[in-house]
Amino acid sequence: MREARPLAVIVLAAGEGTRMRSAATAKVLHGFAGRPMLGHVLAATGQLGPSVEVVVVGHRREQVIDFLAREHPRAIPVVQAQQLGTGHATRIGLDGMPQFADGTVLVTLGDAPLVTAQTLRALIELHEESGAGATVLTAIVEDPAGYGRVLRSPDGSVEQIVEQRDGTPDQLAVREISSGIFAFDAAQLAKALTQLTTDNAQGEQYLPEVLTILRAQGIGIAALAADADETAGVNDRVQLAHAHRVANARILDGLMRSGVTVIDPATTWVDATVTVAPDATLWPGTYLHGATAVAAGASIGPEATLQDTEVGENARILRATCLSAIVGPGVTVGPYAYLRPGADLGEDVHIGTFVEVKASDIAPGAKVPHLTYVGDASIGAGTNIGAGTVFANYDGVAKHRSRVGAHVRSGSNVTFIAPVEVGDGAYTAAGSALTESVPPGAIAVARPQQHNVEGWVLRRRAGTPSAEAAAAAIQEQQAAEQAAGDSAKSPDA
Ligand code: UD1
Ligand code: CA
Repeated sequence: MREARPLAVIVLAAGEGTRMRSAATAKVLHGFAGRPMLGHVLAATGQLGPSVEVVVVGHRREQVIDFLAREHPRAIPVVQAQQLGTGHATRIGLDGMPQFADGTVLVTLGDAPLVTAQTLRALIELHEESGAGATVLTAIVEDPAGYGRVLRSPDGSVEQIVEQRDGTPDQLAVREISSGIFAFDAAQLAKALTQLTTDNAQGEQYLPEVLTILRAQGIGIAALAADADETAGVNDRVQLAHAHRVANARILDGLMRSGVTVIDPATTWVDATVTVAPDATLWPGTYLHGATAVAAGASIGPEATLQDTEVGENARILRATCLSAIVGPGVTVGPYAYLRPGADLGEDVHIGTFVEVKASDIAPGAKVPHLTYVGDASIGAGTNIGAGTVFANYDGVAKHRSRVGAHVRSGSNVTFIAPVEVGDGAYTAAGSALTESVPPGAIAVARPQQHNVEGWVLRRRAGTPSAEAAAAAIQEQQAAEQAAGDSAKSPDA
């Protein structure tokens, strides 16, 4: 095998992307599967270990430069102030890496997000082994509309690429398309770029014309055919949705092959940034986003959305939304639960139905089974929170924290008015509104005493079904008491 040559990468990302019809977002920052298109491209090129990588930016460049600085600081933005074509953009890119004069230049597109590192590596290898001046990545597609067509001479070698708007009907009937992705010899590319014309329907400097120029000088052109999914360009939101489907299917295939059960790939969506360990199960309607990480044996869904959430081994999350939460091993969540940022659930915690948890630590084995809001609180190990409990954390101006100890039994419908502390092993009576701390082992009763007004319904609601029912019950009671009294008096009882 030949020694690999030094590699430079140029990503073209300056175009306006009119067909996206976006008033807000730069074309290459439209995304899917957890990354903008440009992020997918750079994730692939990053795996090639280039010695230098530039991204040609233009339209809405502040956004793109900002993204690069945050997510890909090794990529150098270079500005193409006017979009005079992909050839012009490539020249600007080369100008941005003056130290790189000898080696292979990979040119790829910010709107071709599905190409894989594996295919790019194969393109570069073929290019370097064939000794060609340029190597194009192509594909045979069903519908070539919109792409440059690859025209070959009778001996099969690539002659030229003709754009949609410049082709004759015969040329446009060709179904082999150019992905727009090329490997070039750096020196030959630099020279050819100075010879580009604008003799085409768009009056632009086309990068594919470099092939025509090199061929006229007797320099070889190579081509690598790839899968049509890899070469798909994304120019509008229909193609964006298609790219998302392709990326998602790849991600799910990868997970399934690694040992994750995906019950229904058609309704399961997982970002490229998510990790799922073997023996986890994803049920239908599961959406995993961002930095979400699911451990072995966990079961997610049906109907669950997790964003930046950590799920421990054998946890079970059913019909829930979890945002920036930590779900410990063996935890059960849902159905119908909402974990918000800072929810941190220890081992074997149970969060039940219609429960919302925010910025709260819940220690191992604690249970919050029904109809409860836990905000800005900590709950100790083994504690049970009764149905309908509310941690009233907000006084209208500021948020306050409450602390509930271990093995506490809080009755149903308790309001913990923050800040309040409940000691270990304490009980709180149902319906209590607690404003004061409860010592360990005490029971806190904080509710008005019950007061029954006997006979009120009979007097004030006479003639209603309630009054009739009450009268009958009272009569029955009296009869029973009478009978009990009689039998107690009877000598032979
Ligand atoms: C381009 C190719 C076409 C190929 C297709 C693959 C040319 C002339 N055409 O067509 O052969 O089949 O991609 O998807 O190369 N860009 C710049 N500066 C410019 C112009 C474009 O940076 O001055 C960038 C765009 O941001 C985009 C990429 O280059 O990321 C391709 O440009 P676009 O206008 O989308 O070209 P296509 O018509 O799709
Ligand atoms: Ca395009």
